[in-house]
Amino acid sequence: MFRNLLRSNSFAPVVRSSARTLATEASVPARLKTFQIYRWSPDTPEIEPKMQSYEVDLNKCGPMVLDAILKIKNEQDSTLTFRRSCREGICGSCAMNIGGTNTLACLCRIDTDTNKDLKIYPLPHMFIVRDLVPDLTHFYKQYKSIQPYLQRETHPADGRENLQSIEDRAKLDGLYECILCACCSTSCPSYWWNQQEYLGPAVLMQAYRWLIDSRDEAGKLRREMLQNSMSLYRCHTIMNCSRTCPKGLNPGKAIAEIKKQLAFD
Ligand code: SF4
Ligand code: SF4
Ligand code: FES
Repeated sequence: MFRNLLRSNSFAPVVRSSARTLATEASVPARLKTFQIYRWSPDTPEIEPKMQSYEVDLNKCGPMVLDAILKIKNEQDSTLTFRRSCREGICGSCAMNIGGTNTLACLCRIDTDTNKDLKIYPLPHMFIVRDLVPDLTHFYKQYKSIQPYLQRETHPADGRENLQSIEDRAKLDGLYECILCACCSTSCPSYWWNQQEYLGPAVLMQAYRWLIDSRDEAGKLRREMLQNSMSLYRCHTIMNCSRTCPKGLNPGKAIAEIKKQLAFD
């Protein structure tokens, strides 16, 4: 049967089109772009972190920065380490500092100017596990501290869902879409200097998401947890957070709304 398939006419055009593609590829001059990437390994702590250069032919690479670093890892250097999963801006794991901006590698287009090198660092002011992988343990601990789940004393009489009006549901828009990539928190100067106590924009935006959820009954406790000089009030409205969010969200505004709620408490 396999032999029959090979003889069949339907296979022939595929062979011809592959040959044409190969001929075209050979005649297109390479567009070599240099990627300078931060490297550090815990296996050799005596060696200082360094930038390592890799050249990628943009004609043979997808359009996004994640495509390029995956190509480097697959074809040039399997030791290059970074996180990624969804490749479509949903999981938040490929957050890094690309060309000076915190963003998601999978949503960031490669600048096709081959005269300019592209520098890639891990998210700034974080402990580094290896290469482009930041240690997010403290970030997640802070997220856990705001109790990011529905809290109620009462339950619906029919034992089913806690309903909310369409208007109340709409208040969560622009908040629930956060993928906790940490781009905003690690771009915030206040978070750089006070990371141990200041919760930072990503976590505060989620605190606000629960504060305004009409189904939640723990608002008083949630506000009390933020009523101290460090958790919230280290935000000085510099707005780096909202500028950098790769999902177009506005954590700076959410923080301002929490401050308003606390002022009228
Ligand atoms: S607000 Fe934006 S930048 Fe911050 S964690 Fe959420 S998705 Fe990432
Ligand atoms: S607005 Fe607040 S949270 Fe956002 S970058 Fe500025 S200080 Fe940080
Ligand atoms: S790989 Fe999931 S957000 Fe980039």
